[in-house]
Amino acid sequence: MKKLTTMFSVLALCAGMSAGVQAAPDTIKFSHVVAENTPKGQMALKFRDLVAERIGDKYVVEVYPNSQLFGDGKEMEALLLGDVQFIAPSLSKFSKYTKKLQVYDLPFLFKDMEAVDRFQQSPAGQALLSSVNSKGLIGLGYLHNGLKQLSANDPLRVPADADGKKFRIMSSDVLAAQFEAVEAVPLKKPFSEVFTLLQTRAIDGQENTWSNIYSKKFFEVQPYITESNHGVLDYMVTTSMEFWNDLPDGDRAVLKKALDEAVAHGNAIANDKAMKDRQNILDSGRSEIITLTDAERQQWVEVMKPVWTEFQDEIGPEVIEAAVASNQ
Ligand code: LMR
Repeated sequence: MKKLTTMFSVLALCAGMSAGVQAAPDTIKFSHVVAENTPKGQMALKFRDLVAERIGDKYVVEVYPNSQLFGDGKEMEALLLGDVQFIAPSLSKFSKYTKKLQVYDLPFLFKDMEAVDRFQQSPAGQALLSSVNSKGLIGLGYLHNGLKQLSANDPLRVPADADGKKFRIMSSDVLAAQFEAVEAVPLKKPFSEVFTLLQTRAIDGQENTWSNIYSKKFFEVQPYITESNHGVLDYMVTTSMEFWNDLPDGDRAVLKKALDEAVAHGNAIANDKAMKDRQNILDSGRSEIITLTDAERQQWVEVMKPVWTEFQDEIGPEVIEAAVASNQ
Protein backbone atom coordinates (compact mmCIF):
# COMPACT_ATOMS: atom_id res chain seq x y z
CA MET A 1 0.00 0.00 0.00
CA LYS A 2 2.84 2.39 0.98
CA LYS A 3 4.64 1.56 -2.28
CA LEU A 4 1.49 2.40 -4.24
CA THR A 5 1.06 5.79 -2.52
CA THR A 6 4.71 6.69 -3.19
CA MET A 7 4.26 5.72 -6.85
CA PHE A 8 1.19 7.97 -7.12
CA SER A 9 3.05 10.88 -5.50
CA VAL A 10 5.94 10.55 -7.94
CA LEU A 11 3.50 10.40 -10.87
CA ALA A 12 1.62 13.47 -9.57
CA LEU A 13 4.91 15.36 -9.24
CA CYS A 14 5.95 14.46 -12.80
CA ALA A 15 2.53 15.49 -14.11
CA GLY A 16 2.85 18.77 -12.27
CA MET A 17 6.30 19.40 -13.69
CA SER A 18 5.27 18.59 -17.24
CA ALA A 19 2.26 20.92 -16.83
CA GLY A 20 4.78 23.70 -16.11
CA VAL A 21 4.05 24.14 -12.38
CA GLN A 22 6.58 26.69 -11.12
CA ALA A 23 8.29 27.02 -7.81
CA ALA A 24 6.74 29.66 -5.52
CA PRO A 25 8.36 33.12 -5.86
CA ASP A 26 11.04 34.08 -3.34
CA THR A 27 9.95 36.56 -0.70
CA ILE A 28 11.87 39.82 -0.40
CA LYS A 29 11.14 41.70 2.82
CA PHE A 30 11.36 45.50 2.89
CA SER A 31 11.16 46.81 6.44
CA HIS A 32 10.90 50.44 7.50
CA VAL A 33 9.81 52.53 10.46
CA VAL A 34 7.63 55.28 8.99
CA ALA A 35 4.00 55.51 7.88
CA GLU A 36 2.90 54.50 4.38
CA ASN A 37 1.87 58.06 3.41
CA THR A 38 5.47 59.32 3.47
CA PRO A 39 8.12 59.42 0.71
CA LYS A 40 9.74 56.25 2.10
CA GLY A 41 6.41 54.47 2.54
CA GLN A 42 5.38 55.32 -1.02
CA MET A 43 8.76 54.37 -2.45
CA ALA A 44 8.62 50.91 -0.85
CA LEU A 45 5.11 50.28 -2.21
CA LYS A 46 6.16 51.40 -5.68
CA PHE A 47 9.10 48.98 -5.55
CA ARG A 48 6.74 46.17 -4.51
CA ASP A 49 4.41 46.93 -7.43
CA LEU A 50 7.16 47.24 -10.04
CA VAL A 51 8.68 43.93 -8.95
CA ALA A 52 5.26 42.25 -9.13
CA GLU A 53 4.76 43.63 -12.65
CA ARG A 54 8.20 42.79 -14.02
CA ILE A 55 9.48 39.72 -12.25
CA GLY A 56 6.55 38.63 -10.10
CA ASP A 57 6.93 34.99 -11.15
CA LYS A 58 10.24 34.90 -9.28
CA TYR A 59 10.00 37.43 -6.45
CA VAL A 60 7.35 38.92 -4.24
CA VAL A 61 8.14 42.02 -2.17
CA GLU A 62 6.48 42.26 1.23
CA VAL A 63 6.59 45.75 2.77
CA TYR A 64 6.51 46.13 6.57
CA PRO A 65 5.98 49.80 7.56
CA ASN A 66 5.70 51.47 11.00
CA SER A 67 8.44 49.39 12.71
CA GLN A 68 6.05 46.40 12.40
CA LEU A 69 8.85 43.95 11.73
CA PHE A 70 11.94 45.72 13.11
CA GLY A 71 12.43 49.05 14.84
CA ASP A 72 15.36 51.23 13.84
CA GLY A 73 17.54 49.80 16.57
CA LYS A 74 17.36 46.35 15.01
CA GLU A 75 16.83 46.68 11.27
CA MET A 76 20.48 46.75 10.23
CA GLU A 77 21.31 43.65 12.24
CA ALA A 78 18.22 41.96 10.78
CA LEU A 79 19.50 42.84 7.31
CA LEU A 80 22.90 41.32 8.01
CA LEU A 81 21.25 38.19 9.44
CA GLY A 82 19.11 37.81 6.31
CA ASP A 83 15.82 38.31 8.18
CA VAL A 84 15.01 41.18 5.83
CA GLN A 85 16.43 42.07 2.41
CA PHE A 86 15.86 45.84 2.08
CA ILE A 87 15.77 48.72 4.52
CA ALA A 88 16.09 52.49 4.08
CA PRO A 89 17.32 53.95 7.38
CA SER A 90 17.88 57.61 7.87
CA LEU A 91 21.48 58.60 7.10
CA SER A 92 21.81 59.51 10.78
CA LYS A 93 21.58 55.86 11.84
CA PHE A 94 24.71 54.43 10.19
CA SER A 95 27.42 55.61 12.58
CA LYS A 96 28.06 52.05 13.82
CA TYR A 97 28.98 51.13 10.23
CA THR A 98 30.62 54.30 8.88
CA LYS A 99 31.53 57.74 10.21
CA LYS A 100 31.48 59.34 6.75
CA LEU A 101 27.70 59.59 6.49
CA GLN A 102 27.75 61.81 9.58
CA VAL A 103 28.28 64.66 7.11
CA TYR A 104 24.52 64.71 6.54
CA ASP A 105 23.88 65.50 10.21
CA LEU A 106 26.03 68.63 10.35
CA PRO A 107 23.69 71.49 11.30
CA PHE A 108 23.06 74.23 8.73
CA LEU A 109 25.21 72.50 6.09
CA PHE A 110 22.78 72.54 3.16
CA LYS A 111 20.84 75.64 2.21
CA ASP A 112 17.96 73.67 0.66
CA MET A 113 16.99 70.26 -0.73
CA GLU A 114 18.35 71.13 -4.19
CA ALA A 115 21.79 71.48 -2.59
CA VAL A 116 21.33 68.13 -0.82
CA ASP A 117 20.40 66.58 -4.15
CA ARG A 118 23.41 68.09 -5.93
CA PHE A 119 25.74 66.73 -3.26
CA GLN A 120 24.16 63.26 -3.34
CA GLN A 121 24.56 63.08 -7.12
CA SER A 122 28.16 64.38 -7.06
CA PRO A 123 31.15 61.99 -7.12
CA ALA A 124 31.76 62.71 -3.40
CA GLY A 125 28.14 61.97 -2.51
CA GLN A 126 28.02 58.82 -4.64
CA ALA A 127 31.27 57.55 -3.07
CA LEU A 128 29.61 57.65 0.36
CA LEU A 129 27.13 54.98 -0.77
CA SER A 130 29.95 52.45 -0.65
CA SER A 131 31.25 53.59 2.75
CA VAL A 132 29.38 50.69 4.39
CA ASN A 133 30.61 47.94 2.04
CA SER A 134 33.31 46.73 4.40
CA LYS A 135 30.55 45.95 6.91
CA GLY A 136 28.64 43.72 4.49
CA LEU A 137 26.10 46.39 3.51
CA ILE A 138 25.42 47.96 0.12
CA GLY A 139 23.98 51.45 -0.34
CA LEU A 140 21.85 51.31 -3.48
CA GLY A 141 20.74 54.94 -3.58
CA TYR A 142 19.63 58.03 -1.70
CA LEU A 143 16.02 58.77 -0.94
CA HIS A 144 14.76 62.18 0.17
CA ASN A 145 12.52 62.96 3.07
CA GLY A 146 13.36 66.60 3.66
CA LEU A 147 14.61 69.28 6.01
CA LYS A 148 14.11 68.99 9.77
CA GLN A 149 12.12 71.30 12.01
CA LEU A 150 12.23 71.65 15.79
CA SER A 151 9.09 70.87 17.76
CA ALA A 152 8.60 71.50 21.48
CA ASN A 153 6.21 72.11 24.35
CA ASP A 154 7.35 75.73 24.53
CA PRO A 155 8.18 78.17 21.74
CA LEU A 156 11.78 77.94 20.51
CA ARG A 157 12.89 81.22 18.92
CA VAL A 158 16.48 81.54 20.05
CA PRO A 159 18.98 78.92 21.29
CA ALA A 160 18.49 80.03 24.93
CA ASP A 161 14.87 78.75 24.68
CA ALA A 162 16.22 75.18 24.35
CA ASP A 163 18.44 75.45 27.43
CA GLY A 164 17.94 72.43 29.74
CA LYS A 165 15.18 70.91 27.58
CA LYS A 166 15.16 67.22 26.65
CA PHE A 167 15.08 66.40 22.93
CA ARG A 168 14.71 63.02 21.32
CA ILE A 169 17.35 62.44 18.66
CA MET A 170 18.22 59.63 16.23
CA SER A 171 21.25 57.52 17.10
CA SER A 172 23.84 60.08 15.99
CA ASP A 173 26.69 61.64 17.94
CA VAL A 174 26.58 64.70 15.67
CA LEU A 175 22.95 65.29 16.59
CA ALA A 176 23.84 64.85 20.26
CA ALA A 177 26.55 67.49 19.90
CA GLN A 178 24.15 69.78 18.05
CA PHE A 179 21.72 69.82 21.00
CA GLU A 180 24.51 69.99 23.57
CA ALA A 181 25.70 73.13 21.76
CA VAL A 182 22.47 74.86 22.82
CA GLU A 183 22.73 73.45 26.37
CA ALA A 184 19.84 71.04 25.73
CA VAL A 185 19.74 67.36 26.73
CA PRO A 186 19.71 64.96 23.75
CA LEU A 187 18.25 61.46 24.19
CA LYS A 188 18.80 58.75 21.56
CA LYS A 189 15.49 56.93 21.20
CA PRO A 190 13.88 54.76 18.52
CA PHE A 191 11.39 56.43 16.20
CA SER A 192 8.58 54.14 17.36
CA GLU A 193 8.79 55.61 20.89
CA VAL A 194 8.74 59.30 20.01
CA PHE A 195 4.98 59.91 20.11
CA THR A 196 4.58 58.39 23.58
CA LEU A 197 7.64 60.20 24.92
CA LEU A 198 6.16 63.49 23.73
CA GLN A 199 2.63 62.71 24.84
CA THR A 200 3.68 61.78 28.36
CA ARG A 201 6.03 64.78 28.46
CA ALA A 202 8.95 62.50 29.28
CA ILE A 203 10.76 64.70 26.75
CA ASP A 204 10.21 68.32 25.75
CA GLY A 205 10.78 68.19 22.04
CA GLN A 206 12.26 66.54 18.98
CA GLU A 207 13.50 67.33 15.47
CA ASN A 208 11.93 65.87 12.38
CA THR A 209 10.56 66.49 8.89
CA TRP A 210 7.08 67.78 8.09
CA SER A 211 6.02 64.39 6.78
CA ASN A 212 7.11 62.51 9.91
CA ILE A 213 5.68 65.16 12.26
CA TYR A 214 2.36 64.92 10.44
CA SER A 215 2.07 61.19 9.72
CA LYS A 216 3.09 60.21 13.26
CA LYS A 217 0.86 62.89 14.82
CA PHE A 218 3.68 64.56 16.75
CA PHE A 219 1.95 67.89 16.02
CA GLU A 220 -0.99 66.79 18.15
CA VAL A 221 1.22 66.65 21.23
CA GLN A 222 3.67 69.47 20.41
CA PRO A 223 2.10 72.93 20.56
CA TYR A 224 5.04 74.65 18.81
CA ILE A 225 7.04 73.86 15.70
CA THR A 226 9.93 76.13 14.77
CA GLU A 227 10.50 76.17 11.02
CA SER A 228 14.25 75.96 11.40
CA ASN A 229 15.24 73.86 8.36
CA HIS A 230 18.45 73.29 10.32
CA GLY A 231 19.37 69.87 8.95
CA VAL A 232 18.42 67.15 6.52
CA LEU A 233 16.70 63.81 7.09
CA ASP A 234 17.32 61.61 4.08
CA TYR A 235 17.78 57.87 3.62
CA MET A 236 20.09 55.30 2.13
CA VAL A 237 18.27 52.37 0.56
CA THR A 238 20.35 49.47 1.79
CA THR A 239 20.67 45.76 1.18
CA SER A 240 23.14 43.12 2.33
CA MET A 241 26.07 42.06 0.22
CA GLU A 242 25.23 38.44 0.83
CA PHE A 243 21.70 38.75 -0.55
CA TRP A 244 22.57 41.10 -3.41
CA ASN A 245 25.62 39.24 -4.70
CA ASP A 246 23.86 35.87 -4.55
CA LEU A 247 21.14 36.99 -6.96
CA PRO A 248 21.36 35.81 -10.56
CA ASP A 249 22.79 38.70 -12.65
CA GLY A 250 19.65 39.18 -14.74
CA ASP A 251 17.36 39.27 -11.69
CA ARG A 252 19.66 41.72 -9.90
CA ALA A 253 19.49 44.06 -12.88
CA VAL A 254 15.66 43.94 -12.96
CA LEU A 255 15.45 44.54 -9.21
CA LYS A 256 17.93 47.43 -9.36
CA LYS A 257 16.02 49.12 -12.17
CA ALA A 258 12.75 48.74 -10.26
CA LEU A 259 14.42 50.14 -7.17
CA ASP A 260 15.90 53.12 -9.05
CA GLU A 261 12.47 53.95 -10.46
CA ALA A 262 10.84 53.59 -7.04
CA VAL A 263 13.47 55.90 -5.52
CA ALA A 264 12.93 58.44 -8.31
CA HIS A 265 9.21 58.30 -7.52
CA GLY A 266 9.85 58.85 -3.79
CA ASN A 267 12.19 61.74 -4.54
CA ALA A 268 9.72 63.33 -6.94
CA ILE A 269 6.94 63.45 -4.32
CA ALA A 270 9.05 64.31 -1.24
CA ASN A 271 8.98 68.09 -1.55
CA ASP A 272 5.26 68.29 -2.33
CA LYS A 273 4.52 65.95 0.52
CA ALA A 274 6.51 68.12 2.93
CA MET A 275 4.62 71.25 1.87
CA LYS A 276 1.22 69.52 2.04
CA ASP A 277 1.91 68.07 5.48
CA ARG A 278 3.10 71.47 6.71
CA GLN A 279 -0.22 72.89 5.51
CA ASN A 280 -2.16 70.00 7.13
CA ILE A 281 -0.50 70.81 10.44
CA LEU A 282 -1.30 74.49 10.05
CA ASP A 283 -4.94 73.71 9.19
CA SER A 284 -5.30 71.43 12.21
CA GLY A 285 -4.76 74.40 14.53
CA ARG A 286 -3.06 72.00 16.98
CA SER A 287 0.40 73.41 16.63
CA GLU A 288 1.74 76.90 16.02
CA ILE A 289 4.38 77.16 13.33
CA ILE A 290 7.06 79.66 14.35
CA THR A 291 8.89 81.52 11.59
CA LEU A 292 12.30 82.79 12.65
CA THR A 293 13.58 86.22 11.77
CA ASP A 294 16.96 86.26 10.02
CA ALA A 295 18.59 87.49 13.22
CA GLU A 296 17.01 84.71 15.31
CA ARG A 297 18.01 82.03 12.81
CA GLN A 298 21.55 83.41 12.74
CA GLN A 299 21.81 82.81 16.50
CA TRP A 300 21.09 79.08 15.98
CA VAL A 301 23.64 78.95 13.17
CA GLU A 302 26.34 80.58 15.29
CA VAL A 303 25.86 78.25 18.25
CA MET A 304 25.41 75.01 16.31
CA LYS A 305 27.90 75.36 13.47
CA PRO A 306 31.04 74.82 15.62
CA VAL A 307 29.92 71.17 15.79
CA TRP A 308 31.39 70.80 12.28
CA THR A 309 34.96 71.11 13.57
CA GLU A 310 34.35 68.47 16.22
CA PHE A 311 33.54 65.85 13.56
CA GLN A 312 35.64 66.95 10.60
CA ASP A 313 38.39 64.38 11.14
CA GLU A 314 35.94 61.48 11.35
CA ILE A 315 34.00 62.63 8.29
CA GLY A 316 36.93 63.90 6.24
CA PRO A 317 37.35 67.64 5.52
CA GLU A 318 37.16 66.98 1.76
CA VAL A 319 33.69 65.44 2.16
CA ILE A 320 32.50 68.50 4.09
CA GLU A 321 34.02 70.81 1.47
CA ALA A 322 32.22 68.97 -1.32
CA ALA A 323 28.95 69.26 0.59
CA VAL A 324 29.48 72.99 1.15
CA ALA A 325 30.27 73.43 -2.55
CA SER A 326 26.86 71.94 -3.45
CA ASN A 327 25.22 75.10 -2.06
CA GLN A 328 26.47 77.14 -5.04
C1 LMR B 1 13.57 59.21 12.86
O1 LMR B 1 14.00 58.28 13.54
O2 LMR B 1 13.15 60.27 13.32
C2 LMR B 1 13.54 59.03 11.36
O3 LMR B 1 14.75 58.49 10.96
C3 LMR B 1 12.44 58.13 10.94
C4 LMR B 1 12.49 57.91 9.45
O4 LMR B 1 12.88 56.82 9.04
O5 LMR B 1 12.15 58.85 8.74
